Amino acid sequence: MNLKQQAGIEAASHVKDGMIVGLGTGSTAKYMVDEIGRRVKEEGLSIIGVTTSNATEKQALELGIPLKGIDEVPYVDLTIDGADEISADFQGIKGGGAALLFEKVVASYSKQCIWIVDQSKLVEKLGAFPLPIEVVPYGHQQLVHLFTKKGFDPTLRLDESGNILTTDGGHYIIDLHLKVIEEPIAFGEYLDSLVGVVEHGLFLNLVSTVIVGKESGVETIQALR
Ligand code: A5P
Repeated sequence: MNLKQQAGIEAASHVKDGMIVGLGTGSTAKYMVDEIGRRVKEEGLSIIGVTTSNATEKQALELGIPLKGIDEVPYVDLTIDGADEISADFQGIKGGGAALLFEKVVASYSKQCIWIVDQSKLVEKLGAFPLPIEVVPYGHQQLVHLFTKKGFDPTLRLDESGNILTTDGGHYIIDLHLKVIEEPIAFGEYLDSLVGVVEHGLFLNLVSTVIVGKESGVETIQALR
C-alpha cells in the first residue's frame, strides 16, 4: 500500500454513521473516497457525501455513496481532503488539482476538517509549491500583468491539450511561483482584496488534524489550536 493510500484509508475510519461528509479531490482523497465507498457497501455505513469537484462526484456516484449538494445540507460534519503543502503551523496550500474554490467552500462550512498527505507535503514554510489563484476569465491578463510587476512569477494554467484550463466553477487559474510565503495571512488578505480574484489556494486556520502517510507508518498529528 502506498503512503497516500495509507493516509486515505486511515482518514476514512474517522467517518461515523449519520455524518454529512465533505469528500475532497485529488490522488490522495481518491483513496479515502474508495474506502468510504467500500464501507458503505460492505459495512452498511450510512452517510451523506458532499463532493468538492466533478471528478469526485463521478467517483462517489460510481461507488454508490449517497450525495447531496452543499446547498442541500445545513452543514458538513467532517471534510477529508488532500493538500499540496502543509506548514509546521498547519496552514496549507491547495489547488494543485484545480478544485480549490469548491474545496474551500465545503471546508468553510464544515465542523471539522482533516487533511491527508504523504510525508513529502510537510514543509517548514509555505511557498515552494506554486500558489493557485482562481480568477474570472474577464480581465485575467490584467491580473497576470499585475502579478508579474509584483515579482510573483505568474503562469496561467493550461490543460493537457495546451488550452487554458477552466475550473469546475468556470474560472481560470494563475499559479504564483513565490518560493516562500513569509506571512500567509497577510498575503491571503492582499489576494482577497484584488478585483477578479475569486479565491486563492491558501487554506488558513481551517484544519487541526493531519494524517500523514510515512515510510514508518501512518501518523495523525494535531495542531495546538
Ligand atoms: C485539488 O485542487 C487539490 O487541492 C488537492 O487536494 C491537492 O492538490 C492534493 O492532491 P494530491 O492528493 O493529488 O497530491
